[in-house]
Amino acid sequence: MYRVEKAEKLADKVFQMWVCAPHVARHARAGQFLIVRIDQQGERIPLTISAVEGDSVRIIFMAIGKTTSHLSELKAGDTILDVAGPLGKPSEIPSNGTCAVIGGGVGIASTPIIARAAKAAGNHVIGIIGARNADLLILEDEMREICDELYITTDDGSRGTHGFVSDVLRTRLEEGPMDCAWIIGPAIMMKVTSQVTKPYGVKTYVSLNPIMVDGTGMCGSCRVVVGGETRFACVDGPEFDAHQVDFDTLMQRQRIYLEEEREALDVYHNDRCACRENGLHD
Ligand SMILES: Cc1cc2nc3c(=O)[nH]c(=O)nc-3n(C[C@H](O)[C@H](O)[C@H](O)COP(=O)(O)OP(=O)(O)OC[C@H]3O[C@@H](n4cnc5c(N)ncnc54)[C@H](O)[C@@H]3O)c2cc1C
Ligand code: FES
Repeated sequence: MYRVEKAEKLADKVFQMWVCAPHVARHARAGQFLIVRIDQQGERIPLTISAVEGDSVRIIFMAIGKTTSHLSELKAGDTILDVAGPLGKPSEIPSNGTCAVIGGGVGIASTPIIARAAKAAGNHVIGIIGARNADLLILEDEMREICDELYITTDDGSRGTHGFVSDVLRTRLEEGPMDCAWIIGPAIMMKVTSQVTKPYGVKTYVSLNPIMVDGTGMCGSCRVVVGGETRFACVDGPEFDAHQVDFDTLMQRQRIYLEEEREALDVYHNDRCACRENGLHD
């Protein structure tokens, strides 16, 4: 059992949670993820390791379906049945160069741990984080503390530059050289933003988020196409060379279980309502 040390809401439907998981915390490196299963009936879901402190790891997630909604209801002192990790390959961090760490939406969750590792390796670190609006922007203060330069964008202009992270990235690339970039967010954002770095020859990584089940390379559900070859994101990734990724296949596969996911969320909400009516939940 893994104890929830701290749980709080960061933005609409976005939650931050510190979980005591010493074996994960001890070995975790930037770019890796863990898989949680809340209880015996629970589904296994992958979440990025967003930070590590002592024996605890931080996860930041958006409550979009059954399991993330359930997770968002846990409070400090509650427990999670399984936390498996760290999983996946760590980020390949170069030394003494200029790196950009770019996050969109809840993908910003993955940026501080990479930015910190890049900084520790002697890089000049440029952070670019964006959200639909100011209320949905997370981790601005933390990224400001780590990065040498930080740029903010919002789709509606309510904070920072009015526009997308890709716009700011293009401007920054015109101002000076960059050795490598990480882009983390929704698949479409990673696709569009990585097209910006391509003409500049910047080594660019994206962290892919296909559906994962076992997280150990056995089930094949997380297969993605990179450089024309099938790769398993859980063991070969989740970070890959952005300019080699077939994003269209990724987006197609992410939608495979939409109907079932909708049904599972409806059943979960109906069960919660029934429990509340019977006084089984607050
Ligand atoms: C390596 C990796 C790291 C991730 N890190 C984060 C993170 O830090 N924060 C965050 O909010 N989300 C993260 N995700 C996505 C997260 O796993 C899904 O949001 C979560 O599984 C949704 O589960 P659900 O039951 O709440 O929603 P569902 O209704 O079941 O699904 C909603 C959507 O989430 C995706 N999804 C569903 N099940 C899975 C699964 N088993 N594996 C992967 N995606 C799934 C699908 O695109 C689906 O359409 C990550 C995914 C991967 C692969
Ligand atoms: S999640 Fe099963 S092979 Fe990757």
